[in-house]
Amino acid sequence: MPTPHLISYHAGDMRCDAQELAALSVELEAARQTLKKKKAAGEIGFLSIPGSAGDLKPVTALAAKTTKNFRHLIVVGIGGSDLGARAFIKALARPGKGMEVHFIGASTDPDEIAALLDRIDLAKAAINVISKSGDTIEPMSTFLLLRKMLVAKVGAKKHARHIIATTDEKSGTLRTIADREGYATLPVPPAIGGRFSALTPVGFFPAACAGIKIVDLIAGAADADDQFWSASMAENPAALFAGLHRHLARRDGRRVTVLMPYAEALREVSNWFRQLWAESLGKRSDSGFTPVAAIGAADQHSQLQLWTEGPADAVITFLEVEKFKKNFAVPNAYPDIEGVAYMDGHTFEEIIHAERKATAMALTKAGRPNGTLTIGSVSAKSVGAVMYMCMLATAVAGEIMEVNAYDQPGVESMKRAMYALLGRKGYEL
Ligand code: PA5
Repeated sequence: MPTPHLISYHAGDMRCDAQELAALSVELEAARQTLKKKKAAGEIGFLSIPGSAGDLKPVTALAAKTTKNFRHLIVVGIGGSDLGARAFIKALARPGKGMEVHFIGASTDPDEIAALLDRIDLAKAAINVISKSGDTIEPMSTFLLLRKMLVAKVGAKKHARHIIATTDEKSGTLRTIADREGYATLPVPPAIGGRFSALTPVGFFPAACAGIKIVDLIAGAADADDQFWSASMAENPAALFAGLHRHLARRDGRRVTVLMPYAEALREVSNWFRQLWAESLGKRSDSGFTPVAAIGAADQHSQLQLWTEGPADAVITFLEVEKFKKNFAVPNAYPDIEGVAYMDGHTFEEIIHAERKATAMALTKAGRPNGTLTIGSVSAKSVGAVMYMCMLATAVAGEIMEVNAYDQPGVESMKRAMYALLGRKGYEL
């Protein structure tokens, strides 16, 4: 018996009949074949990630050195340059294991920077500034400030050993600065765009500093990759996820994509997915989805009302974890008060599964499409698998919607406007 894959997908009630699903399978198979050809031609950079386990040494070596020398790691980045690492740290970092990782640079909110500086002694901190272009205002302005404070604290000569720049191997502003200062650097692979770069040094260095096994993240990605290329469409989470969203948008105008993990550990995975799905597919007025980052059970008491009785425009996908690390039983404190007595002996794990089931039942009753992605437990392997599966789903959706999932002209337009507003030479309003 082959080992089961790390992710399974149950298209609970997607409101599609057998004929529709058969037609969708044909469309998805065609997309898979196109992606296969593009992979062979080296046209889609992120598809090489599962085969890159051999390239991890520079990252693990630098992370080991950094962990030995410093207590905190400050990650300075935005968008594709920090959301993946945030997801890894939230899901997998454990107190007392590895460095304390802090994030900054996703805003220029000065109070947020002040709060970080209040908490951290820069003399004990390493700074990982991440920017593929090396030009993005939020992380670069934050980096310049942190660098100045670091120099004031430890001196111009010593400051360089606190800084690790993750950027383009050859060009860009951050590359120029890093080379001039002699900072340690890690590459953002040239063919992999920001939001597809979580499983590269961009996300791996902060993860390794936090004590996370990055080799397991890659192993998980490799499992999702194998599943994508080998499974039938009916058992193919990445293809089905993309196909069902496309089909329900085309047929019913459902253009809202909700990803709702039922595990606090995976909260940042849905934030990471939101950028991936929005920025990759929102390319024409008739293409793209509005991604909603939700969390179970909290959003049952927040957004669920809208999804069950509001506009019929959402497709909800739960991300379920079968087994939690710890479990507790609800104590039988008041056997004579039925309002709490019925919970006697039920475990918290049992209750969270019932929460997801009840939400699915309410949606199905209201005729609202919903499905469930399931992983056995939260681990570096399963998190790597889920995130790589989401990248594959985005690539499939890009193919069937005929959009370029790998550029972001709307974002670049905002960046140019920012440069002009702040007086950068060569940019005009
Ligand atoms: O996915 C993308 O390409 C973007 O979201 C970028 O990651 C984001 O704009 C940050 O860019 P950079 O890494 O160049 O600073």
